[in-house]
Amino acid sequence: MSNRFYGMLLGASLLALAGAVDARDASKPGTTISASADARARAQAIVARMTLDEKIALAHGLFPPMAAGKTTNELIPSAGHIDGIPRLSIPLVRESDASLGVANQVEQRKGDVATALPSSLATAASFDVAIARAGGTMIGAEARAKRFNVLLAGGVNLTRDPWNGRNFEYLGEDPLLAGEMAGAHIAGVQSNHIVSTVKHLALNAQETGRMVVDARIDEASLRMSDLLAFQIAIEKGRPGSVMCAYNKINGDWACENRDLMTDVLKRDWGYRGWVMSDWGAVHSTARAANAGLDQQSGQELDKAMYFAAPLKAAVQSGAVPVARLDDMIARYLTGLIETGAYDNPVPATAQVPPYAAHAEVAQRAAEAGIVLLKNDGDLLPVARTAKRIVLIGGRADVGVLSGGGSSQVRSVGGAPIEIPLTSGAAMSFARYTYHASSPLKALQAVLPGATVTFADGKDVAAAAAAARAADIAIVFATQWTTEAQDVPDLSLPDNQDALIVAVAKVQPRTVAVLETGGPVLMPWIGSVPAVLQAWYPGQRGGEAIADILTGKVSPSGRLPITFPAAASQAPRAAPVGLDRLTSVEAQAAANPANASTFQLESFPVDYVEGANVGYRWYEKQRQRPLFAFGHGLSYTSFAYRNPVVTGGRSLNVTFEVTNTGKRAGADVPQMYVARDGSATPMRLAGFTRVTLKPGETRRITLTAEPRIVADYDTTLPGWRIAGGAYRVALAHDAQDRALVVTTRLDAATMKP
Ligand code: BGC
Repeated sequence: MSNRFYGMLLGASLLALAGAVDARDASKPGTTISASADARARAQAIVARMTLDEKIALAHGLFPPMAAGKTTNELIPSAGHIDGIPRLSIPLVRESDASLGVANQVEQRKGDVATALPSSLATAASFDVAIARAGGTMIGAEARAKRFNVLLAGGVNLTRDPWNGRNFEYLGEDPLLAGEMAGAHIAGVQSNHIVSTVKHLALNAQETGRMVVDARIDEASLRMSDLLAFQIAIEKGRPGSVMCAYNKINGDWACENRDLMTDVLKRDWGYRGWVMSDWGAVHSTARAANAGLDQQSGQELDKAMYFAAPLKAAVQSGAVPVARLDDMIARYLTGLIETGAYDNPVPATAQVPPYAAHAEVAQRAAEAGIVLLKNDGDLLPVARTAKRIVLIGGRADVGVLSGGGSSQVRSVGGAPIEIPLTSGAAMSFARYTYHASSPLKALQAVLPGATVTFADGKDVAAAAAAARAADIAIVFATQWTTEAQDVPDLSLPDNQDALIVAVAKVQPRTVAVLETGGPVLMPWIGSVPAVLQAWYPGQRGGEAIADILTGKVSPSGRLPITFPAAASQAPRAAPVGLDRLTSVEAQAAANPANASTFQLESFPVDYVEGANVGYRWYEKQRQRPLFAFGHGLSYTSFAYRNPVVTGGRSLNVTFEVTNTGKRAGADVPQMYVARDGSATPMRLAGFTRVTLKPGETRRITLTAEPRIVADYDTTLPGWRIAGGAYRVALAHDAQDRALVVTTRLDAATMKP
């Protein structure tokens, strides 16, 4: 008998034994969960052995930078820490932000680097769940190696405003796309036997006044938009934890919102993990606990440690039932058990992740997410005959820009530009930061036969002169955005529009490469023949941009967000509350001695667009944006032919997609659906990504997500497909109506 076979047998009998132990006493330390064991039952059995103090200890987490002396365990500088209970084998939990990589804001862990993916919005632009999953898998592996076992990732708030400072951390404006991509990212993280959250439940849709803003919307609209994104992400990713948001929803704080946490999440969706608060989002003890909050995070950031001694007192007085406390802890343990974090401790000492292999993951994501917005006269890829290429602006000599805030990764290679902020809500935890991935060096490496030079663009006349003397000019324009602040408007800052105009005036072969958090206005679009949307492209962004500019890789990203032609096209024309915030900040600055008395009062934001977020709003308002959701060009072309649509109980469209051009490339066919005769705009009901050689054809079937075809009916309550005739567009983007077919669907209802 080979050792290997012997090992398998031994493993099998141990599992069987573990199953037997489970049945007798599921809480026993070291018990291995078998596939069929019920994590919840095991968690409850552990809770049954806990003292009141032990339960309370798990209901609140420390904020390491402010928690010195509160534990004998090593405090790794990061977002969160919850001591374990060794006698019950409950692991110590260390939490790190991790939307784009294992975060290390303001270099709180000196010298600790991690692989930085492109922004989540860039990943969303790939329309490829495999890219999202690979990114999550990579992050989870690095987190585990660094001894983190709960990751604050999975941001899935829909983009309702193009100036939201955190758009780069989210997955765009469509619930199906965002939900699918978040779910894949979460599943990737958790494949490392650690927990990912999904965040921020719900409607943390603007950063201006995020701690006080009251997001107003009706239930059906919320279920069909932001909540649907969460619902899909939770179904696909099965995150161990959900993070409730800072803001209010219809008057109630998100972390005190019974409708959201208890009725929707736990009852309607059957969610079994735990709800953790955002950092500084708790306002009460009994009210929050009884509404469904399971754990207070970063307790030092709240006005009180509500879920420490006050929670114990509330349980003792009966204000919080013991059963609720037991449920809170059972949910925490269920999340840890289901993901494998409970049974697979992180290493005792930090390991070095395989950074070289992980950099490839980051580069593939950037290549798949960069969007070619415009390419008149096939200016791109850069012609082989171009001998003199000038790059202008955007610090393209040094690296690529990243977004700011809790997601900030200190990437492998370091931060060649890092500028602290001097004011604003993000000042304490965000810095204007670049990754060391120089587009200039990358282009020089890919084009050894050309002379590739750089002009910083500060002197507009000098930049224009350099452009005139070159065969092609590539202007890099940047817009820095950060958590905790919205950008005040959609214009490129620092006179960059004028720079682009000046360059394009003297050089007809001008390309604009945009490193931005989200959409920007392009007043120069008519005179610039080629525009590449590079987002924040991550630590291999320079290389990815160079490979796309030169045609080594054909661009394949598609916009996960509408680019408006003017700010006035959006449902709101400017960040709501910015005027109030500016006035409060000015008063505080003028009265430094009692600055803290000037506080922003709660104010409402009415989400008048309801479920018609993003491209749906544009269709409903008959607005033509600058670039539509789903738009993205390629160096080749694709045709859709012979669609066959079937209806009845489910909606499927089968068709051929052919690469009709001369290069290999990837395409993203999209299916939009609306009930015939209804005033409802068409909704993205299915999409896929397909890579084809020149001339190659593939037959593809897209199946509509039934909840996209349905409407939410609060009287049911649940989803209702009205039935009847439906229009189905097989499209290249949200505006494309070249191929519309009609089919009939049966009426149906579905649970909430
Ligand atoms: C952010 C969360 C983050 C947390 C911990 C908060 O300010 O909103 O997304 O996970 O901080 O850093």
